[in-house]
Amino acid sequence: MSKRVTVFGTGYLGATHAACMAEIGHEVLGVDIDAAKIAKLEAGEVPFYEPGLDEVLKRNIEAGRLRFTTSYEEAAAWGDIHFLGVGTPQRRGEYAADLRFVNSVVEKLAPLVTKPAVIFGKSTVPVGTAANLGELARELSPAGEGLEVAWNPEFLREGFAVEDTLRPDRLVLGVDRDRPGRAEEVLREIYAPILELGMPFIVTDLATAELVKVAANSFLATKISFINAMAELCEAAGADVTVLADAIGHDKRIGRKFLNAGVGFGGGCLPKDIRAFMARAGELGAEHALTFLREVDNINMRRRTRMVEISRELVGGSLLGSRVAVLGAAFKPDSDDVRDSPALNVAGQLQLQGATVNVFDPKAMENARREFPTLGYSASTEEACQGADLVLVVTEWKQFRELVPADLNKIVRRKRIFDGRNCIDPQVWRAAGWTYRGLGRP
Ligand code: UGA
Repeated sequence: MSKRVTVFGTGYLGATHAACMAEIGHEVLGVDIDAAKIAKLEAGEVPFYEPGLDEVLKRNIEAGRLRFTTSYEEAAAWGDIHFLGVGTPQRRGEYAADLRFVNSVVEKLAPLVTKPAVIFGKSTVPVGTAANLGELARELSPAGEGLEVAWNPEFLREGFAVEDTLRPDRLVLGVDRDRPGRAEEVLREIYAPILELGMPFIVTDLATAELVKVAANSFLATKISFINAMAELCEAAGADVTVLADAIGHDKRIGRKFLNAGVGFGGGCLPKDIRAFMARAGELGAEHALTFLREVDNINMRRRTRMVEISRELVGGSLLGSRVAVLGAAFKPDSDDVRDSPALNVAGQLQLQGATVNVFDPKAMENARREFPTLGYSASTEEACQGADLVLVVTEWKQFRELVPADLNKIVRRKRIFDGRNCIDPQVWRAAGWTYRGLGRP
């Protein structure tokens, strides 16, 4: 049955959630304080790159099921089911998460809620946040105890956001065990078309739901750093980490996914989530439980430095005066997100050491230019590689994976390619007279 829902925050998470809730038949109002973003969305334009999302957005706007607003008054009056999907970035100069946006939604929304309603938090937050927000909501709302706060963490991946929202591996809901309310019943109704597909629906307390999310991201980060640590060993021993990953990945208990060694993880989630988790553990007096995450972070950051070192070796010991093509700027393919992107971090370090750097990315150019305005940018792979002494592949976009030596043979000054994602075939390049380097490969 169709319900009226609101979604606060229209970033990667919120905009996708709003569009997908409309896609499964609900009447949705997306809310954001950023008027420019709202204007774009109203015009049927996704303010970032996410495959497939623009069609879902347009289709549902046209069907009249999806609208956007900057007005909290309108949102509070619209319905009694509110999703909260605003960002929780890393605090400047600290490991902890910045909760100002989640707090602000509740501070502004709760006083406007006069009848029983549920707020479902989706943002990634430090454990304990949901309980605090519940208290705040009850205090500020004329509905008092009638305003419930529950937590429904989101596990979507950028690049697969629509698919992950409509067909998630599992759904998790944390409810306030001290105040039995309507949250579970309401969410079962909202997600009925998704639950019909038969995925697990796990209902638990607020703290467990909050922890599920950060535990999942910590595990993924650990898996990547594990294989990158193996890559360091492979480099020292002259072994091949890609074969090693395939071989251990056949063990179903280990699994091959998230065992791609390379320049490491970046993005708006994994790096800041493991740091916020360590900070929160410290506050709870359980920091020892997570000291391993510091090492996970260290291994990850070391990959970036290692890429710069190997690049320097490849151009003959000094980057001064060398031309380096950097293929990729996004933190991963099929995204235009450059938050904590290893690609741009490496490009920046190379430039600081004297290289002339030319970056090309199929989708992330605008975001990259904004974050790193002093790097050199090119309009195509060919332009970036013009006269290059070294070509780096740092984001494994399909068009880079499919590059063949003939595409670049006549363009570069020196035939050297450094594959920071182990995503191209060394044999093909070596056979064409190129020097190929990967990470963790002989
Ligand atoms: C991650 C999680 O995968 C999602 O489940 C979660 O919902 C999301 O964070 C979030 O918290 O919002 P995402 O940041 O979109 O999703 O990206 P991932 O696909 O997890 O990749 C993260 C980084 O790890 C990328 O830089 C990627 O290149 C890198 N990576 C991934 C590797 O270096 N090796 C791998 O084998 C896999």
